[in-house]
Amino acid sequence: MSGLSNIKVNGETNGNGNASHKNTLTVTDNRTGKTVEIKIDADYVINATDLKKLTLGKEDKNGIMVFDPAFMNTAVATSKITLVDGEKGELRYRGYKIEDLVENCSFLEVAYLLINGELPTNKQLNDWENKVMRHTYIHENLVEQMKTFRYDAHPMGMLISSVAALSTFYEEANPALKGPDLYRNQNLRNKQIFRILGKLPTIAACAYRHRIGRPYNSPVNHLNYTENFLYMMDRLSESDYRPHPRLAKALDICFILHADHEMNCSTAAMRHVGSSLVDPYTAVACAAGALYGPLHGGANEGVLHMLEEIKDVSNIPQFLKDVKAKKRKLMGFGHRIYKNYDPRATILKKVAADVFDLCGRTPLYEIAVELEAQALKDEYFVTRLLFPNVDFYSGLIYQAMGFPTDMFPVLFSIPRAAGWLAHWIEMLDDPSLKIFRPRQKYVGETDKEFVPLSERIEEPKTPNLPMYYSAYGVRRSVTHKWKMEQQHLKENGGEVMNFSERVYDHE
Ligand SMILES: CC(C)(COP(=O)(O)OP(=O)(O)OC[C@H]1O[C@@H](n2cnc3c(N)ncnc32)[C@H](O)[C@@H]1OP(=O)(O)O)[C@@H](O)C(=O)NCCC(=O)NCCS
Repeated sequence: MSGLSNIKVNGETNGNGNASHKNTLTVTDNRTGKTVEIKIDADYVINATDLKKLTLGKEDKNGIMVFDPAFMNTAVATSKITLVDGEKGELRYRGYKIEDLVENCSFLEVAYLLINGELPTNKQLNDWENKVMRHTYIHENLVEQMKTFRYDAHPMGMLISSVAALSTFYEEANPALKGPDLYRNQNLRNKQIFRILGKLPTIAACAYRHRIGRPYNSPVNHLNYTENFLYMMDRLSESDYRPHPRLAKALDICFILHADHEMNCSTAAMRHVGSSLVDPYTAVACAAGALYGPLHGGANEGVLHMLEEIKDVSNIPQFLKDVKAKKRKLMGFGHRIYKNYDPRATILKKVAADVFDLCGRTPLYEIAVELEAQALKDEYFVTRLLFPNVDFYSGLIYQAMGFPTDMFPVLFSIPRAAGWLAHWIEMLDDPSLKIFRPRQKYVGETDKEFVPLSERIEEPKTPNLPMYYSAYGVRRSVTHKWKMEQQHLKENGGEVMNFSERVYDHE
């Protein structure tokens, strides 16, 4: 925003020699000469609402507003859940290094940590696991609903709508029915957390089985969280089916790595929707909707397409030339926050080696390893601090495990629900919670005089509204035009009239 160029920083906190050492920002509004002093907190953050004090007087009640589309430099919450240090390439959940958590914990233990703030004791973990695993069944009505999806329905569409549908099963958990203060009740919160964590893998597995035309499997609770998910996906008629422990462990690690990543698009969506105090099922469904987008949950699929296109290690130099000429992007490289190796990619590279060892290598793995090696030596990537991100190896792992690509965002949503719920709880407990309501910079017209429909006879001011027609739509469109012409001829004594293309355009 151009107004911010008037900001003068009088105080510095980083010891760079500025004499005043005041943790404030003095902003002078050159339109009025008015100056305000704004507090800079320990994290170098100012309150955007402090700028509202700079007004033009009585006429201007709102004051200066901050323009930040895509929230490039706006913190929307204070959080104690996840720390991403992009410079160092570090990721910590509740202060613990991701490497330590992967090495020592199960996904459910990490989910406990994220949601409840501390690592559980042995007894707490047993209790947590029992409760989650006793909430894995979904209502038969939901099973029936899921069966009504088309045979080729995208599993993410099934997951999103089924999670939203869950909200209709629990009247006692719906603030729309029971009042906005409902979730002050801790027991009620916990119950919904157990339900969501427990039922998501069941819904995901049903969505997968639907696609492959197999009967849905009921969950079992003698297996752990990830094993049970693989069981529901893969069991046929065996009474004692148990997924390979190395596969289950690899997937469990992937779940830990995807459980949270601070204020990403879907987490921000969870907070945004949750701030209206809607039930958590609806909020999780909305967050999953954000994750479904190709810029969020779909990047690992892009990596696979890229590797398939490269096809052979010998084509890598030419591919990198094209990337450097800006004709292409190296998918799975670069990150808005990480300016170092994404720690999740380092771990996933090892997981990938293990999964390939177990399930067999694909030529894509060799290409990925060589592509990474060549890029990391290349000045273009070195100078721009472009390193592999989490998506570089995750798609390869999922493919090697035999998951179809449309299941990738589902495999991301299951663990990310732990992060969404952690943020939901943190938000509910924040005494400053208010409904999210960003502002806008209105640039449209004001004060137009209304013109009645009968007088709007000039050239239309808005473009026609083209759309594509399905095959039968073309037949219906020409039939409709013919019918209108017949009717017009009848009503106007044979006078021919050319009907507007706008109505019948079926290109
Ligand atoms: C993730 C991403 C969107 C971050 O973008 P960003 O923070 O806006 O970074 P920028 O687009 O400003 O990139 C800075 C420079 O690096 C280049 N760059 C960034 N990512 C690149 C990539 N994957 N391949 C080639 N060049 C890349 C940009 O072209 C730009 O070059 P320039 O300075 O010559 O103009 C971006 O790195 C990207 O598109 N990566 C590929 C997609 C992907 O893997 N997404 C998953 C992220 S978890």
